[in-house]
Amino acid sequence: MTGPAPGIEGLTGAGRLPGVERPRVLLLSGPNLDLLGERQPEIYGRERLADHVARATAAARALGLMLSSAQHTDEASLVRAVQGARHEADALVVNAGALTHYSWALADALATFDGPKVELHLSHPEAREPWRHTSVLASVVDGTIAGFGGIGYELAMHAVSALLRP
Ligand code: DQA
Repeated sequence: MTGPAPGIEGLTGAGRLPGVERPRVLLLSGPNLDLLGERQPEIYGRERLADHVARATAAARALGLMLSSAQHTDEASLVRAVQGARHEADALVVNAGALTHYSWALADALATFDGPKVELHLSHPEAREPWRHTSVLASVVDGTIAGFGGIGYELAMHAVSALLRP
C-alpha cells in the first residue's frame, strides 16, 4: 500500500468511530526470534514465534484490534518496517531481540512513530547478563512487558488496546 490507509491518519483511538475500522497493530520481531522453540528453550520456552503470533492474534481479535506481524533478522529491515508502519499501523509491539540493547537506529526509527509503542520480551533481560540490562528502546516506547513468556504477547495486546482507547 502506498500512502496512508484510509482512516489511519490522525488516529487517536479515542476519536475512532465504533465499528468503522479496527485499529491496526503491527507486531515486529527481531533477530533469532525465528528460532523460538529450538533456541534455548530453558529461557525462551518451547513455543515457536508462530504460536506467539497466534496467541496475540486471538487476543487482538477479542479486543477489536487487527494484528499483522513480521520478523526481520537484520537491523535495516526492522528499521524499514518501523518506518513503513508510520502510515500503515496505529500501534506497534516490538520484540527486537538483541537489537534492543544497542540499536540506536531502531530507537530513532521508533521515535518517529506517533502511536502507542510497547517493548516486549519473553525473558526478563534485566535479570540476566549485564549486557542485557540496558534497553536503548526504553526511552522511546510507552512501556515494556518482560519476563512473562508467551503470556506477554497477550498482555501486549491489552496494553496497546488501553493506550489506543484511553
Ligand atoms: C529477548 C531478550 C533479548 O535480550 C534477547 O537478545 C532476545 C530475546 C526476549 O524476548 O526475551 O533475542 O528479546
